[in-house]
Amino acid sequence: MTNSYRIAVIAGDGIGTEVMPEGLRALQAASEAFGFELDTTEFDWSSANYYSRHGQMLPDDWFDTLRTFDAIFFGAVGWPDVVPDHVSLWGSLLQFRRHFDQYVNLRPVKLLAGVPSPLAGRAPGDIDFLVVRENTEGEYSSVGGIMFEGTERETVIQETVMTRTGVDRVLRYAFELAQSREAKHLTSATKSNGIAITMPYWDGRVAAMAADYPDVRVDKFHIDILTANFVMHPDWFDVVVASNLFGDILSDLGPACTGTIGVAPSANINPDRRFPSLFEPVHGSAPDIAGRGIANPVGQIWCGAMMLDHLGEHAAAAAVQDAFEAVLARGDSSVVTPDVGGSGTTQTLGQAIAAAIAAP
Ligand code: NAI
Ligand code: MG
Repeated sequence: MTNSYRIAVIAGDGIGTEVMPEGLRALQAASEAFGFELDTTEFDWSSANYYSRHGQMLPDDWFDTLRTFDAIFFGAVGWPDVVPDHVSLWGSLLQFRRHFDQYVNLRPVKLLAGVPSPLAGRAPGDIDFLVVRENTEGEYSSVGGIMFEGTERETVIQETVMTRTGVDRVLRYAFELAQSREAKHLTSATKSNGIAITMPYWDGRVAAMAADYPDVRVDKFHIDILTANFVMHPDWFDVVVASNLFGDILSDLGPACTGTIGVAPSANINPDRRFPSLFEPVHGSAPDIAGRGIANPVGQIWCGAMMLDHLGEHAAAAAVQDAFEAVLARGDSSVVTPDVGGSGTTQTLGQAIAAAIAAP
């Protein structure tokens, strides 16, 4: 029987609508080469257009509609001239992350041939690691408040929340991931010298979990020196796990060390598979270049590869990854987009990648 997957497609705003067709083109090529079916349904939600017509980013029944899908393939949301950014983000993407309990935010950090790195002296192969960010609790909590607002005694408190359930499940995901990789190396981000209650707790859970994974080498760094090491020694890392705030910082810093934001992918994963996971490029809607057809589609296409991997189509995922890496490495300037030094378009790059996707 042919495997078939139901995918919800939400292109969103700006260049989201330009890179999404190229993401779908690559997925289509992979499904033909590897013999599975993708049943895609496009939604015009999470966009300034939808907001202008309905006064909200999503319909009231979004949860029941989307939860039946195997995955969500997402472009970018945000068009500040029409919708304030906090409304577009909280009204859509953050709803998905929370209600679908996407407690892992996964970002690959890989220096690709054909993409110049801002770090001097680094070659493709030197930087290849994954950041695993806790995506539901930690420093991003709603526990706290303001007292005596506007007076001399103004008092503001926001608590960090770490639960054993929340910490252990993201650590387990990270350990499993490290165990599945050749290097079997896990780095934990901490700050147990300064943040002397929650971070020693985090460290303790890492140590306890490590006992279950004796083949994984574990180390830890305080977040301050860890950020320095991302820049000075990116070759030291394999899988890096972090709480919500530390992971937020690391998962932007990592991709920044490998060049253009246009190629960086991310996954918001519900590892229990009770709900669909969401795959989106790191970049936003890029109003400054939207409408010109020059956005780099690799971030969207790479997300497609991550989605295929999550769905269990590992060979197809690897073929998509090989295809965009090969096309970028070839660096044909009439094909690749301006952000990587070419004069090509979203379409020329997307078409070249789709054409390079082949079953082994
Ligand atoms: P942005 O990521 O949209 O753009 C930052 C810079 O990178 C711009 O100069 C842009 O031209 C360039 N860039 C981004 N993607 C590119 C691509 N694929 N190819 C070539 N160049 C690319 O971030 P910005 O400008 O801060 O935000 C614009 C809007 O996007 C805002 O409304 C913001 O809220 C939203 N946003 C949405 C995100 C999401 O959907 N997850 C993430 C980040 C921002
Ligand atoms: Mg961020």
